[in-house]
Amino acid sequence: MKPTDAALATTLCGLRLRNPVIAASGTFAYGVEFEKLVDLNSLGGLVVKGLSREPIEGNPAPRVYETEAGMINSIGLQNIGARAFVREKLPALAKLDTAVFANIFGCATEDYVEVARILEDHEGLAGYELNVSCPNTRHGGIYFSSDPSLLGEVVSAVRQVARRPLIVKLSPNVSAIEPLARAAEASGADALSLVNTFIALALDPRTRQSRIGAGFGGLSGPAIKPIALRLVYEAARAVKIPVVGLGGIATGADAAEFLVAGATAVEVGTATFWDPSAAVRIATELGEFLQQEKIANVGHIVGTLVLKKDPV
Ligand SMILES: Cc1cc2nc3c(=O)[nH]c(=O)nc-3n(C[C@H](O)[C@H](O)[C@H](O)COP(=O)(O)O)c2cc1C
Repeated sequence: MKPTDAALATTLCGLRLRNPVIAASGTFAYGVEFEKLVDLNSLGGLVVKGLSREPIEGNPAPRVYETEAGMINSIGLQNIGARAFVREKLPALAKLDTAVFANIFGCATEDYVEVARILEDHEGLAGYELNVSCPNTRHGGIYFSSDPSLLGEVVSAVRQVARRPLIVKLSPNVSAIEPLARAAEASGADALSLVNTFIALALDPRTRQSRIGAGFGGLSGPAIKPIALRLVYEAARAVKIPVVGLGGIATGADAAEFLVAGATAVEVGTATFWDPSAAVRIATELGEFLQQEKIANVGHIVGTLVLKKDPV
C-alpha cells in the first residue's frame, strides 16, 4: 500500500490530510532540507522547527545524548526567527502539496502573538502548532503548559490573530493532563497535540557532570511511548476537539496504537534521526496494517480502545 492510498486519508481541523502521519517539530528542520531524502508530498503533513519572534542561537553543546531507548536533547529552541523563516523557507514550502504547520513559541504571550501575526500575512501554511512547554518570564518562569490559566491566556491571545487552524501542543510534565486539555479547548484551540518531551537528566558519575550542556534536557523516542499513549487517551476523553498523538512512534503499529487510544493523527519525531523517511515509511506500514485488519478507512480505529476497568 502507498502512503497516498485512499484508506489513509483523514481530516484534521477541516484540513484534508492524505494520511495521518505528520513529521514532528524540531526533528524535521524547516522541511525543505529533507527534500532530497524524502518525498515530502507523501507526508500527511510536516511541522517546522519552533519559530520565535527573534532568532535564537540555542544552548551550549553537548545538546543531545542517546539513552537506552531514546534520546535527551536540549537544543535551546535554536531557530532563524519568524521573519527569516518567511523570507528564506516559506516560498519553497508553499509549493508543496502537503499540510505545513508552523510551530510557534515565546517567553511571553505577546511573543506568541507577534509570531502568529508575522505568519498570518503570508500564504503557504496550513495551520499553527503552539509549543507551550516554555517558561513564562513575566510570571516567574512558570511554564505555560503547567498552569490552565496561563495556558488559556496565551491560546486566547493567539486565537484572536490566527485565522488558520490552531493546534496546542501539551507538555507531559504535569500531574493531570485533563485540566490543561480543557483549558486549551475552551480558549479556542482547534486541536491538541501531545506529548512534548519529558524533562530528564543524564549524568556521568565519574566527572559528576551532566551529559547535556544546559543541565537538563527533554527525553523522547521509544522510551516514552507507553506514557504518551496513556496521556493521549486521557486528553482525548477530556475534550471534543481532535488530538494528535506523538511520543516514540517508530512503526505503523505504533501509529495504530495512538489512533486506537484516541488520536486522529500522529506525529513522528525521534525516529526520523535514524531513518529520515520514517514518517512516510510509518504511513505505508499503517496502510498495510489496515489492509491486514480489513479496515476500510483509518478513521474507523480512532478512539476504539476499550478498557476492561475504567481508570480512576
Ligand atoms: C532534537 C529535538 C528538537 C525538538 N524541538 C521541538 C520544537 O522546536 N518544538 C516543539 O514543539 N517540539 C520539539 N521537539 C519535541 C518533538 O516534536 C516531540 O514532541 C517529542 O520528541 C516526542 O516525540 P518523539 O518521541 O517521536 O520524538 C523536539 C524534539 C527533539 C528530539
